[in-house]
Amino acid sequence: MDNVPDMTTDSTQNSPSSEQQLREEMVRQLIETGAARSTRVVAAFRKVPRHLAAPGVEMAKSYDAEAPLITKTDQTGVDISSVSAPRIQAMQIEQADIQPGMNVLEIGSGGVNAAYLAELVGDHGRVVTVDIDHDVTQRAKDFLKTTGYRNVTVLTADGGSGAVDFQPFDRIIVTVQAADIPSPWVHQLNTGGRLVVPLRMRGMTRTIAFVRDDHRLISDGFELCGFVPMQGSGENRMHVAVIHDAEGEEIGLRLDGHPEPDTKALAEALTMPRQEAWSGVTLAGDESNEHLDLWLTTALDNLPLMAAKPAARQRGLVASASPLGIPTLVDGDSFAYRTVRRTEDPDRFELGALGHGPCGLDVAGQLVAEMQTWDSKHRGDRAHIAVYPAGTPDDLLPAGRIIDRPHSRVTISWP
Ligand SMILES: C[S@@+](CC[C@H](N)C(=O)[O-])C[C@H]1O[C@@H](n2cnc3c(N)ncnc32)[C@H](O)[C@@H]1O
Repeated sequence: MDNVPDMTTDSTQNSPSSEQQLREEMVRQLIETGAARSTRVVAAFRKVPRHLAAPGVEMAKSYDAEAPLITKTDQTGVDISSVSAPRIQAMQIEQADIQPGMNVLEIGSGGVNAAYLAELVGDHGRVVTVDIDHDVTQRAKDFLKTTGYRNVTVLTADGGSGAVDFQPFDRIIVTVQAADIPSPWVHQLNTGGRLVVPLRMRGMTRTIAFVRDDHRLISDGFELCGFVPMQGSGENRMHVAVIHDAEGEEIGLRLDGHPEPDTKALAEALTMPRQEAWSGVTLAGDESNEHLDLWLTTALDNLPLMAAKPAARQRGLVASASPLGIPTLVDGDSFAYRTVRRTEDPDRFELGALGHGPCGLDVAGQLVAEMQTWDSKHRGDRAHIAVYPAGTPDDLLPAGRIIDRPHSRVTISWP
């Protein structure tokens, strides 16, 4: 590929030194958070002038390790295109383990990530990037032309079909939230090849590195993340069942294959006093809930995620809120959600559940019982996630949670 040209006179008129400093600071954060671990990935992030992909955006924002740059929003206010945050890009690229000379497919374009991939595959490799949106592919083409990356082919198409003319791929990186694994992604991947995909499972999205093993995909690590939703043939948005609709304080349950709840009864339950159940299980302040939540979603059937506006929390309507959602067990006219409280040790928090409704305490108790099971049997374990073709009989699947989608059967199982 060409050397990156001297970009000293960009639209934001920043000096080259500040551009370089911003890039160095971004790289420092990527290393510190563990998002960028290998020398080659660090070198790629040090090189690509990502601010040129978002003209008009303040240069410092382009190099903020945690900030996605939203480039398109649909008529309902949902973000549908962005340049992903550097930390997420680095994390996925590390998961993909890209080597020189590889043939790599990226689904969901923007230009910047494709440029990193191009750096990693080098002159003897190839990157194909597909986006469903012509505006996005045009922007990606402009960016790649300006920055001189010639080993990238940009296609406008529904990435659910992969890119049949350029297969087989050594790596496929999906940069948009998927609820299913369309069969072309598996068929167009070499055996032993890696598919990295932000897969939504029962409401929560994790970017998962899968390795192809014959007709199956087997997980090799995953990380929680957020991505814009898939459009086209794979579109599958979650439905939110609203249980409190006061403007600015809305509380809802995100349903992802869960049964439709009785929202009237749950709205009523929310007005009843909160009942508490505590587990005796503690987490360190910096310990993530993600493996616990994956256990809860494996073990409990009716566990959608509660989403609440910050104002609902501030007013005390709910005690916990998170943009990713809080696991909430629903049982008829009652529900309970995960929470924590302080312990005498300032570095540890105790897990518990807050229940509402006529059976709120009982439902909170069921949630707490699974927290205790996780602690006694699975703490420290990592779940195995696998993808089988739709139609695979149950007796050929591992024991655990099965998530059925049109193209695939996703399984979550525990050692
Ligand atoms: C987060 S952005 C991609 C970011 C990009 N990889 C980058 O360089 O940071 C997700 C993109 O996926 C695209 N997309 C959504 N559904 C798609 C589909 N079915 N096929 C291809 N692209 C799709 C959207 O148009 C959007 O531009």
